[in-house]
Amino acid sequence: MQLFLQLTALFLALISHQHEALAQTKLTYTSFLFPVTKHTDTPKPLYSIELMTTFVNMQFSHANFLIDIEAPLTWHDCILEWNRIPESSCPTNKLCTSPISSEEHECSEIRSSYSYQNPSCPPLTNSSTLPGWGFHTCPVNVMNPVDGNCTQPELNGDSFAANASDGRNPFLVYHDINIYAACAPSSTFESFPAQVSGVMAFSSSPYALPAYYHQSSLKTSLALCLPSTPSDHGVLFFGSGPYYLLPHSDVDLRSLLSYTPLLKHSDSFSYYIGVNAISIKRRSIDIPGSTTTKLSTTEPYTTLRSDIYNPVIRRFSVVTKRMPRAEPVAPFSLCLRTITNGTRNDFNVPDIDFNFPNGKNWTISTANSMKQVTEDVACFAFVDGGLASDHAIVIGAFQMENNFLVFDLENSTLGFSSSLLTKDTSCANFNFTTGSFLN
Ligand SMILES: *[C@@H]1O[C@H](CO)[C@@H](O)[C@H](O)[C@H]1NC(C)=O
Ligand SMILES: *[C@@H]1O[C@H](CO)[C@@H](O)[C@H](O)[C@H]1NC(C)=O
Ligand SMILES: *[C@@H]1O[C@H](CO)[C@@H](O)[C@H](O)[C@H]1NC(C)=O
Ligand SMILES: *[C@@H]1O[C@H](CO)[C@@H](O)[C@H](O)[C@H]1NC(C)=O
Ligand SMILES: *[C@@H]1O[C@H](CO)[C@@H](O)[C@H](O)[C@H]1NC(C)=O
Ligand SMILES: *[C@@H]1O[C@H](CO)[C@@H](O)[C@H](O)[C@H]1NC(C)=O
Ligand SMILES: *[C@@H]1O[C@H](CO)[C@@H](O)[C@H](O)[C@H]1NC(C)=O
Repeated sequence: MQLFLQLTALFLALISHQHEALAQTKLTYTSFLFPVTKHTDTPKPLYSIELMTTFVNMQFSHANFLIDIEAPLTWHDCILEWNRIPESSCPTNKLCTSPISSEEHECSEIRSSYSYQNPSCPPLTNSSTLPGWGFHTCPVNVMNPVDGNCTQPELNGDSFAANASDGRNPFLVYHDINIYAACAPSSTFESFPAQVSGVMAFSSSPYALPAYYHQSSLKTSLALCLPSTPSDHGVLFFGSGPYYLLPHSDVDLRSLLSYTPLLKHSDSFSYYIGVNAISIKRRSIDIPGSTTTKLSTTEPYTTLRSDIYNPVIRRFSVVTKRMPRAEPVAPFSLCLRTITNGTRNDFNVPDIDFNFPNGKNWTISTANSMKQVTEDVACFAFVDGGLASDHAIVIGAFQMENNFLVFDLENSTLGFSSSLLTKDTSCANFNFTTGSFLN
């Protein structure tokens, strides 16, 4: 897959004497870095990264794209413009990019690299043209992760930038990356959180961001740390580490990780892992061997197929039987009262362990198992996926919050820390102060 990939480091905002310093020193970055935000203004919570788009008037425009670890292709709010001269022809506050025509081989390659079939998808056509261009644009089918509907953005050649990092601080060094993506009209993003104007694909697709970074000098690891509140910034890194969170400036987060293999399933660019059992207080519920466990950043809560959900909720109910119950709040079926007669109950439920074949456990502690739905009610944040669900388990974003996850795509393993809160830090603790990259 040799795309028009080209990786360039731009050194901007450097005053001239720093240029000289740069010539004599080695750059010390080990990753690219994206700040992460949680959004709660949509029916389900969603998470975005901040990135840099066009460079105008000596500064970058910034945009927020949803983090989607399953999407095959990146798409966002932009306009196709075949003739970018004069540059001022792009409306202000819009992003203009170059189209890929349906006559170009990339169009058929991308269209045939995956098939997103959905009854709401109209057939793909080559009918649309741009005034004066003479070629047809290349629409592709993608799923809107907010409402689940089919969307047909049109293929483009795109470019984004991220700050480099040594794992401790961001640097004033920008990395530009050119990728194939697709443009959809602004109206497509009405259901999205405010300020979010695209979907960034982090899947194993050859057209998702990791595949492009794979060809850079950095080893491909995707490290994800989702924050639990909209007011905090979490962090997403590309690059194999080290990674640090305050206040532990001497603890490389990789030393806190356990690993389990990442599995592939044909016809899907999602990430899968093998789970043997779910254990709650020394009692295990076995997961049938032939079933799959998928990871998703656009599913808000972990979903269990009914044959697993039922014994899990029974067990959880038993181990919390002394706690006062509240009326269930959909989509949850077991809710507890966290304040009774004005006194806060001692609120600490037993851990839930996901047991992996190699003996390692991903431990889900209270902050990731109980969702506070009102001031005095918290619910067991696992959802019944029904009997016919495709996957035995879909691990959702709430269970990933304040956990450090490393998708090591080179070695196909998932590194997981379990709750960082039990290790006296959190995903909100990255030091975003710009650091010095010269050394
Ligand atoms: C990159 O770093 C610059 C300088 O510290 C900062 O202003 C900008 O917001 C950063 N960009 C992103 C996407 O974090
Ligand atoms: C679009 O155009 C290309 C190149 O002309 C052609 O190979 C392809 O079959 C067309 N696709 C559709 C859906 O019409
Ligand atoms: C998305 O699909 C639902 C039905 O599944 C429909 O009611 C809704 O109008 C669709 N939204 C858009 C923006 O097309
Ligand atoms: C993959 O494993 C090898 C050997 O353990 C290690 O040197 C390399 O850094 C790993 N790759 C990533 C991306 O971490
Ligand atoms: C709460 O207060 C009411 C009335 O004062 C009392 O009947 C009830 O037992 C109390 N509940 C608990 C759990 O203490
Ligand atoms: C993982 O959990 C299981 C069941 O709860 C337990 O038997 C096992 O010792 C745990 N493994 C580790 C490495 O803690
Ligand atoms: C954050 O990083 C800056 C730049 O490296 C450093 O000066 C500062 O001490 C760090 N903050 C903390 C709390 O460690």
